[in-house]
Amino acid sequence: MITLAEFQRRRAQLLAQCKPSSIVVIPAASQVTRSNDTEHPFRQNSDFWYLTGFNEADALLVLSNQLANEDGDDLSSMLFVLPKDPHAEIWHGRRMGPEKAVEQLGIDEAYELDVLEELLPALLNGHEHLYYSLDENPQADEIVQSALAQCKSAPKQSMVAPANIVDVSVLLHAMRNIKSSAEIALMREAAVISSDAHKRAMRFVAPGVYEYQLEAELHHEFAMRGARYPAYGTIVGSGDNACILHYTENSDCIKDGNLVLIDAGCELQGYAADITRTFPANGKFNPEQSALYQLVLDSQLAALEVLKPGNTIAQAMQACVAVIVKGLCELGILSGEPDALIAEDAWRPYFMHGLGHYLGLDVHDVGIYKKEGEDLPLAPGIVLTVEPGLYIAPDSDAPAKYRGIGIRIEDDIVITESGHEILTSGVPKTISEIEALMASKS
Ligand code: GLY
Ligand code: MN
Ligand code: MN
Repeated sequence: MITLAEFQRRRAQLLAQCKPSSIVVIPAASQVTRSNDTEHPFRQNSDFWYLTGFNEADALLVLSNQLANEDGDDLSSMLFVLPKDPHAEIWHGRRMGPEKAVEQLGIDEAYELDVLEELLPALLNGHEHLYYSLDENPQADEIVQSALAQCKSAPKQSMVAPANIVDVSVLLHAMRNIKSSAEIALMREAAVISSDAHKRAMRFVAPGVYEYQLEAELHHEFAMRGARYPAYGTIVGSGDNACILHYTENSDCIKDGNLVLIDAGCELQGYAADITRTFPANGKFNPEQSALYQLVLDSQLAALEVLKPGNTIAQAMQACVAVIVKGLCELGILSGEPDALIAEDAWRPYFMHGLGHYLGLDVHDVGIYKKEGEDLPLAPGIVLTVEPGLYIAPDSDAPAKYRGIGIRIEDDIVITESGHEILTSGVPKTISEIEALMASKS
């Protein structure tokens, strides 16, 4: 769990990195209509969640390193929230309201959203810098731009609008990129729940089962373990559906002799897990499946060797690709001299995505990978996925026996002082571990 003190610390840390005389504005997410009178499950904006832990729509957080209240105390955090409203709450759900928001979220002052338009110009007044991410939330952009305009057009220059608008995401996303021990503990738990869900699917699968039924097994495990939602659209691709990277139709009947690729992870208190495993529907890899599977696994292990503080993801990708290319040559899928094949990206048709990505409140989490053209070194507290794959499309140039096989192996790791910790090691990964688990299912 993330404590109130940690949310407060994050807000203070952000403000401390802003220039003197700064105001920060962070909007919450809004409800999104699904179909007439019904909405998608609400998902809070990750930046807003990171700074508040508040799960209501349409709110707005304002931070300042300059404001004081009437008693001269710092007024560093203010929150605008939906008002208490018995009628709306009967129809749509409970609201915290401003009074409880101050108490429960450790905010200095909270107000009803109705007064936002009136108050925001006065809050902006006199700050030199406004930290705000433009173009992410059109509704909030309108509110902020109208408040700035009011500030600028106040009679006789009685108000001074911030002269600089700074993209707050640079500071905020650098903070989110390095996970605290409480965040790592939550992500470890999300990873364990997700690992168990994958094992459940491996035990359940059999020829004749539908892909969406495996999805249901995974989602059942997530919810029964306290993680109600998946972190992203669950992928269950059997046979050549596994060659479609973001296949989410999950509608086919699983056939004997096919592999099943599952890419699924739960979201726990906002934090994502992201795991892929590929396994045989009938419990036994055939020789071609084995050969390709072992190759992907070896390439992942080679990448993992490199993933430690000071090294880059690009270096790990190089190690991974070296293994992939050598293996594809040995299998007769590529032919030529490995260095030349690497240089000309000859492997790309079979492995068309990156090695992995940062993971956190977003499944493709924030944080930059390069600065001034240079790959950034990994640092302790960064969580990332390691997910090589091979996808031999049904119409590819590879020998026929390999066509229609898609394999990805994806683990989540946290970079530690000395190397890394694999968060998802609870789910079988070697051929013998997978076959043993599947053999034990009855
Ligand atoms: N599940 C999406 C990804 O692996 O990036
Ligand atoms: Mn994934
Ligand atoms: Mn991923």
